[in-house]
Amino acid sequence: MKPSARKKNPHKRKMFYITTPIYYVNDVPHIGHAYTTIAADVLARYKQLRGYETFLLTGTDEHGQKVQQAAVKQGLDPQAHADRMVVAFKELWKRLTISNSDFVRTTEERHKRVVQYVLRELKDRNVLYQASYEGWYCLPDERFWAGEDVVDGKCPECGRPVEHISESNYFFKMSAYQERLIQHIRKHPEFIRPDGRRNEVIGFLERPLEDLCISRPRARLSWGIPFPFDPDYVTYVWVDALVNYISIPGYSSDNRRFKKWWPADVHLVGKDILTTHAVYWSTLLMALGLELPKTLFAHGWWTVNGEKMSKSRGNVVDPNAMADEYGTDAFRYFLLREVPFGQDGDFSKSALTARYNSELANDLGNLFSRTLTMIERYSGGAVPKPHPKAVKMGDRRMAARAKALYRTVGREMDRFAFHRALREIWMLVDFANRYVEQNAPWDMAKDPKKRPRLDTVLYHLAETMRILAIHLFPFMPMTAQRMITEIGSTAQLDHALKPQDYQWGKLKPGRPVQKGKPLFPRMEPPAAVIKQETVASATPSKENRMESTQTEPSLITIDDFRKLELRVGRVVTAEKVAGADKLLKLSVDIGTDTRQVVAGIAAKYAPDQLIGKSVVLVANLKPAVIRGIESRGMILAAGEKEVEALATFAEPVSLGTRVK
Ligand code: MSP
Repeated sequence: MKPSARKKNPHKRKMFYITTPIYYVNDVPHIGHAYTTIAADVLARYKQLRGYETFLLTGTDEHGQKVQQAAVKQGLDPQAHADRMVVAFKELWKRLTISNSDFVRTTEERHKRVVQYVLRELKDRNVLYQASYEGWYCLPDERFWAGEDVVDGKCPECGRPVEHISESNYFFKMSAYQERLIQHIRKHPEFIRPDGRRNEVIGFLERPLEDLCISRPRARLSWGIPFPFDPDYVTYVWVDALVNYISIPGYSSDNRRFKKWWPADVHLVGKDILTTHAVYWSTLLMALGLELPKTLFAHGWWTVNGEKMSKSRGNVVDPNAMADEYGTDAFRYFLLREVPFGQDGDFSKSALTARYNSELANDLGNLFSRTLTMIERYSGGAVPKPHPKAVKMGDRRMAARAKALYRTVGREMDRFAFHRALREIWMLVDFANRYVEQNAPWDMAKDPKKRPRLDTVLYHLAETMRILAIHLFPFMPMTAQRMITEIGSTAQLDHALKPQDYQWGKLKPGRPVQKGKPLFPRMEPPAAVIKQETVASATPSKENRMESTQTEPSLITIDDFRKLELRVGRVVTAEKVAGADKLLKLSVDIGTDTRQVVAGIAAKYAPDQLIGKSVVLVANLKPAVIRGIESRGMILAAGEKEVEALATFAEPVSLGTRVK
């Protein structure tokens, strides 16, 4: 390749290999499975859009005792059971628009061959030995535990009963790699993420590492990959499963391909399976003389309405049902917006509906639909041409923010901070909403002399929609592609873009826009959401008033107080709530976010009086639905029965500052 040609395509030869865990086929997929797979898909799409050649691998873990038992329960042989169950996973990934490059099943020949090759390699490299073993076995986790680890006859990891087992097995000399592994983790802070998880692994490695039992006697468990040099044994399911990460990109079968993809850039896993990845997998790779993956990222777990998700509680969230009810894109958005990736989070339909209505239907959906409506109405349905002389400071600011997303979203995505990447995108959504209000194109349209300005404003909005769509694509692929097409661009977002496509001004004037159905039609809140009448502190609801007179005033600790997240905000918009004399709907800018709040202050303030006022917002209040409108936070005001004054600031203070 000539150097000039290389310059033309700076993305050439950038690779990104990302994996999900492979899921057991003992049950149908749930929200936990969907979460990792969606996150992996978002990263893969993001990298692909930015010019990387990507490989996203997911699949199913089909051997082992757990799967065998599930099959017996169904009266099926394990292969027939797996063949049946795998369909649910494949269908769900289609449904959730997962763009996986391959799907591995551990019962496939192409995988089994490599597992057997690995076992032979380990033997030839003298890191396998046979020994008799006595210990405690946790069947659900398929792991052995030493006597001192077992707590009251229960597995220290999952709390379920363990069985005592005594048998001869093959062992991998895992202990020999302990020091090397510790050094590797210390030297490569990006290897185990987030940071807290790295410390957990280091903590685990402070105790002497034992060797790993990697076989199961066939007489006890037949459902596994046979040992190639000893027909009495099958492979331990975790070794079998971990090898998928190298068997599929071509280890021992296609060297060129393998070299192209290995080491993986990211193995995404849940926090419960970090040790098996960080310790078993890393040491196995060391023994094989292979490089370690660049990053293991362990995400947190979802509870459901504050409770652990379990079959016995009957609260397992079916991702198909969520996609039916809210649409795939909204479900994807919610999972990555609600909780910082790496932390545990709580799933509830009320939280999903609240975000859906306020962020998707209201902030984004309305902005997009208003933009197209105005172009249809004032510009003959074609993207207008901006007039350089009519460009003002506010337009330049919006363009600068739109351009900056390439950097800011990129920075957050590269740190796996999906929620922050989305927050960056929403800052532009909020800016654009304010821009519409401030420019009031509907007024400009009344005055023919303002034509150049009107065209310029509408062009700026349309181009902002294009740039928003690009950055939204990894999260909400269908919505983003629709936005792009409706705004009159021909871009295909499931292909790499050119770096200049992220620049301002790429949308061609003159192209017809085509307004479709609303991106996110408003949803009724689920029946379980309590309909509060008001949330402003100055006008407590009847129940609240009763409660406060009945209970003794009690003191709170400083820790109680610290639970409150009070932030400086500024009222950006205010309007009356139809049919409610006391209520106003406000949008309050808190720097990182603009919150919609319903406040019971209409008796004291007219909407116009509030615009621009600084206020104190309770930012971590659970969202509530009031008269069908979500309220995300509450503003503080003084007054007993009636509002007397809003809490505000004597000196200027920047938006979002914590009040304590
Ligand atoms: N088969 C193994 C993985 C082998 S990878 C070489 C396995 N399978 S699993 O089906 O049990 O779990 C897969 C993933 O689901 C894990 O990453 C686990 O963390 C995740 N989750 C299970 N329940 C979850 C939640 N409630 N919330 C979030 N993720 C959860 O383990």
